[in-house]
Amino acid sequence: MLRSCAVAPPIHTSFSGNGPQRGTTEAISFLRQQMKIAGIAPKFHTAVILGSGLGRSRTDLPHQTVTTVPYAGIPGMAVPATAGHPGQLLMSDAYPSGCLFLQGRSHIYEGRTLEDVTWSVRILLDLGVTRLVLTNAAGGICSDLAPGSLMLIRDHLSFVDLHSLWKGTQLGEACRKPVWDEEYLRLACAISTPLVVHSGVYAMMPGPNYETAAEVRMLRRLGADAVGMSTVAEAIVGRQLGMCVLGVSCITNPAAGTGTKPPDHTEVTATASRIERDFAAWMDKLLKAICAKDGCRQA
Ligand code: HPA
Repeated sequence: MLRSCAVAPPIHTSFSGNGPQRGTTEAISFLRQQMKIAGIAPKFHTAVILGSGLGRSRTDLPHQTVTTVPYAGIPGMAVPATAGHPGQLLMSDAYPSGCLFLQGRSHIYEGRTLEDVTWSVRILLDLGVTRLVLTNAAGGICSDLAPGSLMLIRDHLSFVDLHSLWKGTQLGEACRKPVWDEEYLRLACAISTPLVVHSGVYAMMPGPNYETAAEVRMLRRLGADAVGMSTVAEAIVGRQLGMCVLGVSCITNPAAGTGTKPPDHTEVTATASRIERDFAAWMDKLLKAICAKDGCRQA
């Protein structure tokens, strides 16, 4: 079954796009201006990118959002074209050194380049972020991963060619280090929640269609526990930029061929909104734990 994805609106940008990576200067000065208007310090150490259907996870925690900026207003930022991705940036003062919540992301299946989908991570670096939490919706391959459970990303497989990310960039030492932060994983495992939390291997597929049942059988044989269409590129770029990275998949559906019906996006967003409150509370505790521990080690 084909995932419905609207044609992506053009990225409105004044950057030439000729360089190895599109610049972030214009976006950063725009965001700093927004922070000044909102009266908040222009430095955030922690950021969360919220995936399909998880984007509203902040709205039920009052008194924490200082200001909200639609992606459409941020020069150079790709606006998500998929349902369940509101496309706005929340600046929160709820945690020490603040936290940025990116509600929704764009994907390569929307016709975006890898540079487009990872560009927000580069923006985050310029805003001071050293701790990056990536969330997504995913299909469960391992039978233990029932819809509504969480899977912390212990490791990944990528079926997307990531080499264009590095065109002309200078790689730092961090790119030789493991992507997924083990200390954050331990912290995340210890968070109390009514949700069932596992850890496992996430496979990134390009989409736009959900995988075939044959692909899911292949992924299972290769060691994948869950499958989705995002996150890995952002994680690798974040790590390369020296961030400590944690990933969590919300299992929204059985992967193709493992359930009673083919996956569809309505099921994905319905499961995500079913667990939204518990997920928001889990995330809140996680962010507090991460900030308290300050387990971030710069690369
Ligand atoms: N496959 C790929 N991406 C997904 C799925 C899936 O089953 N569920 C949510 N996102």
